[in-house]
Amino acid sequence: MNGERERVQKVLARIGLGSRRANEVLISQGRVMVNGRVVELGDRVGPEDELAVDGRIYSTLPDAVTYLVNKPVGVVTTASDPEGRPTVMGLVPDEPRVFSVGRLDRNTEGLLLMTNDGGLAHRLTHPSFGVEKEYLVQVSGRISPRSLRQLREGIELDDGVTSPAKASLLDGGLLRLTIHEGRNRQVRRMCEAIGHPVVRLVRSRIGPIVDPKLKPGFSRPLTGDELLELQRAVHPRR
Ligand code: URA
Repeated sequence: MNGERERVQKVLARIGLGSRRANEVLISQGRVMVNGRVVELGDRVGPEDELAVDGRIYSTLPDAVTYLVNKPVGVVTTASDPEGRPTVMGLVPDEPRVFSVGRLDRNTEGLLLMTNDGGLAHRLTHPSFGVEKEYLVQVSGRISPRSLRQLREGIELDDGVTSPAKASLLDGGLLRLTIHEGRNRQVRRMCEAIGHPVVRLVRSRIGPIVDPKLKPGFSRPLTGDELLELQRAVHPRR
């Protein structure tokens, strides 16, 4: 045992699963596991352990923090830029140190998560977890039904065929494209491949997370409910 280990009830309370009494009931019903073993009241859990409730895994990091950032055009998704351009680090508090979950191109706008929870970041970016990222895309030219179908079925890029995407046209010819891969410049390359280069690219949703009110250049911590929804999105019930 070391000093970082906390009582399971305390960690459950932080996750926001319910009242202290409700968490005690969860434990006594054998629905809470640490590293695959059913815990008892009073057992402890550390940051390196895997905590699961009803088969869903939750972060145990005591000082985990995750921000939602609305990245403006011109800001670089990197910890420090050798060319001295503004970076996303300037959009979040300095401490605790966080890093971006995946990246947006310098000229892409919209939602980006920044966290110090490496496990969460991994699950959000790895295609096998299938977390959706939705983009609103202004392209040059008018997208035909055939092009929409191509986007939905998969596009041949130089690093392989893209997974099927959700694609629809909104008022004004804006394209709404939802993908769950995170390849380099993927949306731009998909649109180029169908003959419609991107004019403006905005990420509007990451899994369950949306915030039309968050202004470009601003960030805020995720709420407890949002964190819970995010954990659910990356830990589908087994
Ligand atoms: N796809 C792109 O092409 N660029 C981004 O920034 C994100 C997704």
